[in-house]
Amino acid sequence: MLDVCIYITQTHTRIRTLLSSVRERKKMELGRVLGLCLILLVTILVFSGGVATAAKGVTYDGRSLIIDGQRKLLFSGSIHYPRSTPEMWPSLIKKTKEGGIDVIQTYVFWNLHEPKLGQYDFSGRNDLVKFIKEIRSQGLYVCLRIGPFIEAEWNYGGLPFWLRDVPGMVYRTDNEPFKFHMQKFTTKIVNMMKSEGLYASQGGPIILSQIENEYKNVMAAFHEKGEAYVKWAGQMAVGLKTGVPWIMCKQPDAPDPVINTCNGMTCGETFPGPNSPNKPKMWTEDWTSFFQVYGAEPYIRSAEDIAFHAALFIAKNGSYVNYYMYHGGTNFGRTSSSYFVTGYYDQAPLDEYGLLRQPKYGHLKELHAAIKASANPLLQGKQTMLSLGPLQQAYVFEDARSGCVAFLVNNDAAKVSQVQFRNNAYSLSPKSIGILQNCKNLVYQTAKVNVPKNVRFATPVQVFNVPDKWEVFRETIPAFSGTALKTNALLEHTNLTKDKTDYLWYTTSFKPDSPCTNPSIYIESSGHVVHVFVNSALAGSGHGSRDIRVVKRQVQVSLTNGQNSISILSGMVGLPDSGAYMERKSYGLTKVQISCGGTKTIDLSRSQWGYSVGLLGEKVRLHQWKNLNRVKWSMNNAGLINNHPLAWYKTMFDEPSGDEPVGLNMSSMGKGEMWVNGVSIGRYWVSFLTPAGRPSQSMYHIPREFLKPSGNLLMVLEEEGGNPLGISLNTISVTGSNRAQSQLS
Ligand SMILES: *[C@@H]1O[C@H](CO)[C@@H](O)[C@H](O)[C@H]1NC(C)=O
Ligand SMILES: *[C@@H]1O[C@H](CO)[C@@H](O)[C@H](O)[C@H]1NC(C)=O
Ligand SMILES: *[C@@H]1O[C@H](CO)[C@@H](O)[C@H](O)[C@H]1NC(C)=O
Repeated sequence: MLDVCIYITQTHTRIRTLLSSVRERKKMELGRVLGLCLILLVTILVFSGGVATAAKGVTYDGRSLIIDGQRKLLFSGSIHYPRSTPEMWPSLIKKTKEGGIDVIQTYVFWNLHEPKLGQYDFSGRNDLVKFIKEIRSQGLYVCLRIGPFIEAEWNYGGLPFWLRDVPGMVYRTDNEPFKFHMQKFTTKIVNMMKSEGLYASQGGPIILSQIENEYKNVMAAFHEKGEAYVKWAGQMAVGLKTGVPWIMCKQPDAPDPVINTCNGMTCGETFPGPNSPNKPKMWTEDWTSFFQVYGAEPYIRSAEDIAFHAALFIAKNGSYVNYYMYHGGTNFGRTSSSYFVTGYYDQAPLDEYGLLRQPKYGHLKELHAAIKASANPLLQGKQTMLSLGPLQQAYVFEDARSGCVAFLVNNDAAKVSQVQFRNNAYSLSPKSIGILQNCKNLVYQTAKVNVPKNVRFATPVQVFNVPDKWEVFRETIPAFSGTALKTNALLEHTNLTKDKTDYLWYTTSFKPDSPCTNPSIYIESSGHVVHVFVNSALAGSGHGSRDIRVVKRQVQVSLTNGQNSISILSGMVGLPDSGAYMERKSYGLTKVQISCGGTKTIDLSRSQWGYSVGLLGEKVRLHQWKNLNRVKWSMNNAGLINNHPLAWYKTMFDEPSGDEPVGLNMSSMGKGEMWVNGVSIGRYWVSFLTPAGRPSQSMYHIPREFLKPSGNLLMVLEEEGGNPLGISLNTISVTGSNRAQSQLS
């Protein structure tokens, strides 16, 4: 049309020159055409300008996100970059894409990136930019949950521990020091993404960012300061001008234009929806399992249940569903928060090792395909709901141009339901949704799983059962006289450790003034673990759990009539990841008493206590090759090796052949931490049994990238006593193929 206008304009000029005074009527007609052309031209210019703007950024309306000017129905999966290795990222992302996922959602881990105030680390597993670029290269989008408070079962919810020592600090409220550091870090991340061109507004993959995290859980504790903080956080984030929308999860009053989103297992049933008709309905955490703590069994959520709730959310106008987690991975080092196991969301569609967990992976893949096949009517059509029975509904999306799709829902958990819909009969399994393409063909049923279940198994390739191959270093138990810091009070644990170590020694010296018969020591601690040593021998241990936070323990001891050295090791299994006023939480011993003969009680809480931070092996950084000879190792003696508290064990091993993932079976040990070639693969705790009498986790992932073909150093710190001769090296595999494509017909 534009060409026609140009042609007419040119022709008109020529005609005018030729027939200037003659044909007034024709000239008038041409003038009218020209006028129309002008309007058309202006319209085209304005319109194309509008399209250009829409195509650059990400916008939204009440139905969905709009990317490159197009409505989007998005499935997303959470993968946290530091919970795997850069070498694993490409294959994890590939499998995620093959599972029908469009977006990868990750938190940003502040305490990894800024371990010391102003000192940043984006190397190795912390290489956020590399992770995002890998996602971009495979053609997926990114949802960047900056937080920077993230919870995430991550140590201290992602906050760096140095923040606690900033004067006047109160976390996550209208508090100037907190807002200053939060804004500084958020700005740093946003600027880093911008300078790499990673926002969708710059042609990059990041389509969404999150500020704060589930603030509603703690907001009431901060009263009106909480409300002010939420407003500030929204404004601060929006002011960073990323060109893509911001979200707040579990935050019903998220300030415009920030989108409030849902977290949970049943958001299709529980989410009242966004707080404005102009915001899309989004689900940021559809839990594929649930976090696991030591002392508990894994939480198994069925593929059918996940599919039902994801489909229901879409049927009720949802346009974004993120699975939390799609791949959980590993809490390497000391990164897990209080009591959480080292493997993270192992029950996700991709398991801890990155292997497909079937049928979960495949059943969701089929769901995504079924929904995507009807994306047009879903996004362009009008939604109506009709009742098909007392507990049965149809959600229909229909549009004259793009067609029709229906979700037939049976909410009856007990009975199959026969329903009629548009002159066809359908049989719906209990608690299920059937998806009708063209409102006619049943292409997917949430309760019908077509993908075979697979089974994961471990193959031991080496048992470390040769005593000669182990060497042991036993920690010396510090005595009061040897400690540098002394005071007549029980000090707070983390005030001294600064979270550089799990361990703090409390030591004192006790001389009974009259013979003490049948003595015992009673301890209360708000830390997680205590080990009581009297005259250098372990007298007893105790620990709490995620539900029982205070450790109370009575230990029988033997005392001499002279000075007795009492040394109590307080241990933490990660800092908390949630709750209001986290900066005020205190840990460690709160009461120590000695009882004689069950009658006389001597309170030692205000005695002179001497402190020692961390273990000797930690102080010399024994896990590193270069420091191995800083202690004296004993060897060649099975008796010397077995069952000692506070012992470091080392041995060498070769990498198992093949490319299957590798795991270390620690079931013969108690509690501690493991390093391979100087890298911590996490804490282990196999002595804390579940109610069924099993360890919560006995197999611990060693990424292949940590290994070389031969001469790998395994270092184990054991707190309680265990038998390293029972540790084994395993390869991990699943029955059937692990390749995403060949898994499904
Ligand atoms: C879905 O959106 C339509 C408007 O297209 C509205 O009429 C309907 O009530 C919404 N349904 C639900 C369950 O939110
Ligand atoms: C931590 O130590 C500081 C002084 O260094 C003290 O003011 C504060 O009360 C201590 N905190 C706890 C919980 O004991
Ligand atoms: C670990 O080893 C023990 C002892 O051999 C075995 O009973 C257990 O099944 C193993 N655990 C796993 C996860 O393979």
